[in-house]
Amino acid sequence: MAQSLTHDVLILGAGLAGLRAAVEISHRLDGKVDIGIVSKVQLMRAHSVCAEGGTSAVLRPDEGDSLELHAWDTVKGSDFLADQDVVRRFVAAMPNEIRLLDHWGIPWTRDEHGLIAQRPFGGHSYPRATLAADKTGFFEMQTLYDELLRYKCFARYDEFFVTDILVEDGGFAGLLGIHAPSGETVTLRGKALLIATGGGGTLYGFTTYSETVTGDGMAMAYRAGLPLEDMEFLQFHPTGLVPSGILITEACRGEGGYLKNTLGERFMQKYAPSKMELAPRDMVSRAEMTEILEGRGFPQPDGLDYLHLDLTHLGAERINTRLPLIREVCIKFVGVDPITQPIPIRPVAHYSMGGVETNIDGLTRIPGIWAAGEVACVSLHGGNRLGANSTAECLAWGGITGGEIARALPSLGAPRPLPAAQITARAAAIDALFKRQGTENLYELRRDLRTTMDRYVGVYRKGPELCKALDTIRTIRERSLHAPVNDKSAVYNSNLFHALELENLLDLAEVTVMGAVAREESRGAHARRDFSTRDDEKWLKHTLAWKTEGNPRLDYKAVTIDTWKPVERKY
Ligand code: FUM
Repeated sequence: MAQSLTHDVLILGAGLAGLRAAVEISHRLDGKVDIGIVSKVQLMRAHSVCAEGGTSAVLRPDEGDSLELHAWDTVKGSDFLADQDVVRRFVAAMPNEIRLLDHWGIPWTRDEHGLIAQRPFGGHSYPRATLAADKTGFFEMQTLYDELLRYKCFARYDEFFVTDILVEDGGFAGLLGIHAPSGETVTLRGKALLIATGGGGTLYGFTTYSETVTGDGMAMAYRAGLPLEDMEFLQFHPTGLVPSGILITEACRGEGGYLKNTLGERFMQKYAPSKMELAPRDMVSRAEMTEILEGRGFPQPDGLDYLHLDLTHLGAERINTRLPLIREVCIKFVGVDPITQPIPIRPVAHYSMGGVETNIDGLTRIPGIWAAGEVACVSLHGGNRLGANSTAECLAWGGITGGEIARALPSLGAPRPLPAAQITARAAAIDALFKRQGTENLYELRRDLRTTMDRYVGVYRKGPELCKALDTIRTIRERSLHAPVNDKSAVYNSNLFHALELENLLDLAEVTVMGAVAREESRGAHARRDFSTRDDEKWLKHTLAWKTEGNPRLDYKAVTIDTWKPVERKY
């Protein structure tokens, strides 16, 4: 029988949303609460530390910015698929989140007057990306962790691979997982759960995500009976470093960088003449792919043709003070110094707009389970997220869900009994994994999955290619039954974890592609060559994907449009 531990609240995922929620709960309950923070990696290795360019918020309402403008930019950026009540709540929450972090000690970059600096970001009509050089996520994480240490009311479960969200009698009961350093199976009981595990971008081979981001929280929630919303909307960031995919922050363009093709042209002039390089990401990525497909990219033997991001006119002082990480990364990884040379870039898988469906408070359909940050789909970003709205969402809904959980805790009663049948089924499934025989290779299958997603579910999509991707994903699932887990040991069995991650990725790939096949229109990041326009009459609706015994089931729900009617999206 698995070892069993109990906490009031379990937070699954220790990135920005998880830590922000932990601080909020600790603060509201004056430290008299018992929180378990569960993470697949060590706490400061959450992928949030990789966030670079900034966090959006209205800090200068007297100088031309406003909550209304931030909300409008977000709604228009979303291609009108964002829920507008959610967007209003978001923009209203953000100024305070920035001030809270300031109060807790974050070293925000300052302007010449000593005020918190902000810079332009794509799709925003005012410079409102608040920054700590180009290491914003790292400093936000560090600050939240420092703040959390004041309360000392949490236990850390680092390197803890959760396999299942346990549900009993329709409500949250606990988590089941493997403590990697010992290989021991452990159950964690709790009254409330916040899922904050981030996105699933390692579905793709060319990606900005850390290898550890495999969509586990989304997949577990889906298997536990929660719908995944709008999964077909996957964001491609316009500037992934070629060939690794490392994020080259949009702040490079916010600071004034140019995108150029082989002819030396600033090609964004053709696609978004008013915003140029600072158009929203879906548009810039499409523009880049068009340039590449029409032969104005720099050819690469492996198909990773690229374009140039040129910062050479910005000067050493600006690059060294505002973009030091970018300079370091370019020198170390491709031997290019951006002070004197252009950076090779192309669109790269970067962010899941979809995720676990929640209401505006971050509550899911299962009592006792909330979700926040990239794992969730509170419907803030719709079809396309604006840059700097992601770290912001993590802070806003970390705070909101933390507050909601603290408020609900007294009424949630004692933790539910653990569902024995579910725990036994997982033990049997792991046993079966260890007993698998065959000649397939897990790592080759993972590579095949990523190649399929890169090739057929990219910036531009077509029905027949998407169908081919869906077939391949299902074949990979079949083949995975013949891919043995060769390492039978207990301690740090990463071979076993990779097998479990592949199952998670396959679940997500299947619903992503099914949603994309079904959505016969182009909206935001979902650009169909065979249905090239937005179709509000048929498709102004959210997709919900449900797990069933057979193939996933899709259904749809309405978008909240209470302020801005959809119009043509031009920049
Ligand atoms: O480009 C960036 O720094 C990424 C920011 C974001 O995804 O919001």
